[in-house]
Amino acid sequence: MAYVLGIDLGTSSLKGLLVNPEGEIVYETSTDYPTLSPQAGYSEQDPQVWLDAMDIVLSRLVADVPDAKEQLAGISISGQMHSLVLLDEQRRALRNAILWNDVRTTTQCQQIIETLGEDLLAITKNTALEGFTLPKILWVQEHEPDIWAATKGFQLPKDYLRLWLTGEYHMDLSDAAGTLLLDVEKAEWSPLIAERFNLEIEQFPILVDSVGQTGVVKAGLAARYGFVQPVKVFAGGADNACAAVGSGVVKADIGMSSIGTSGVFLSMEDTAQKDYQGRLHLFNHAVPQQYYSMGVTLSAGNSLNWFKRTFAKALSFDELLAGIDEIPAGSEGLLFSPYITGERTPHNDANIRGSFIGMDVRHELGHFTRSVLEGITFSLKDSFNLMQSVANKEFSTIVSVGGGAKNRTWLQIQADVFNTPISVLKSEQGPGLGAAMLAAVGLGWFENLEACSERFVEVAEVIQPNRENVAIYEAAYARYQRIYAASKEVLMA
Ligand code: XUL
Repeated sequence: MAYVLGIDLGTSSLKGLLVNPEGEIVYETSTDYPTLSPQAGYSEQDPQVWLDAMDIVLSRLVADVPDAKEQLAGISISGQMHSLVLLDEQRRALRNAILWNDVRTTTQCQQIIETLGEDLLAITKNTALEGFTLPKILWVQEHEPDIWAATKGFQLPKDYLRLWLTGEYHMDLSDAAGTLLLDVEKAEWSPLIAERFNLEIEQFPILVDSVGQTGVVKAGLAARYGFVQPVKVFAGGADNACAAVGSGVVKADIGMSSIGTSGVFLSMEDTAQKDYQGRLHLFNHAVPQQYYSMGVTLSAGNSLNWFKRTFAKALSFDELLAGIDEIPAGSEGLLFSPYITGERTPHNDANIRGSFIGMDVRHELGHFTRSVLEGITFSLKDSFNLMQSVANKEFSTIVSVGGGAKNRTWLQIQADVFNTPISVLKSEQGPGLGAAMLAAVGLGWFENLEACSERFVEVAEVIQPNRENVAIYEAAYARYQRIYAASKEVLMA
């Protein structure tokens, strides 16, 4: 039987999923690598660790599933977004990659906003944030002139891995959109932005759709892993776009609520004509000719981890969460704002900090735990709300993935806070499955991603909102929305 391999090049590990045309996961393996933080606020990775991790994953794959040598038809890759790899003349990495969660570039973001003025939003559909790629390029121009002088191109992590696999120099639109160098609507590099920052557009990677083919595995590597037939390599996409594809979010009326360390609320759009004023991200999707809106709450799972570590160290997560279903919706007046590392959507404020508000002598550990889950969900509702109010979005269902999908009470909280049915997937595989689906469609196994998703993604259950709780959460959310401005006033005074 033929296979596709979906690779998820994440921030802490590289995972491989071998999938057959029925959408069954035949084999999976992963390997970790470190992140370096040479100074406070810096976050870097040696690009070689991704290549070594890919070598481990491919070597294990052909050892454990020997028929993959003959049957592997295609590979595609999902990758951490925005992280910058600078290339020399021979297309080798010139320095460590500067990652998406590195925050050294506040000055460069200001410079971009001032230099581009209204053109920034009009062209890139996004505002300048520390995590994005262009500010990192400007930082290297200013602080490492020798490296900059030797720079002849750039890649994002998954493109660098694909360059190693195929020798070809590409970037797909969903990742290019996160660089702040792409004209999102025209789906081409912006000559105006390149010119304003003295960048040579001829040195930028060739743009392709996520399902586009970008060569085959190089002869030397094919021989190393024993591949018998040419293995086609497809462009792949940004991890959030691939997670959406892998969760079946390939229609405009389905939302995605994803809880990892950070939290993401995402929705597919058929037009880039949205006026979010930079408060939400708007990127090209991995689904060709489509876009997605996305809001990010910086500390989602991170808030729960922090809470457990600080107040309930001796308990397991299951013990901590047991019994929260007995606490009434709204945690009897206790509110939590999850701004413990600042906030991205909708406030874009690195200095804001979190709070518990309304503590009462009746409140116990369970109230605090439930209010943390509610506060994280409210912060995602801020993004959901912007999509509804600015873009008139209506969601028939929201797919819950990550930590929020693992607890029954949290799923009900999401259904009640969003006042929308919540879908739970039968087997959740995240961005790696999305990457495998891009290869499956690229190979022509399916006509498009929607058809592939019908085969590969299965909804196990749909949870309906509870009317009484919806009313309670509407009132609680109205109070939550006032916390940001009030906290800012108190904290910045
Ligand atoms: C999205 C973002 C993160 C990274 C994580 O804008 O910065 O979600 O994609 O890999």
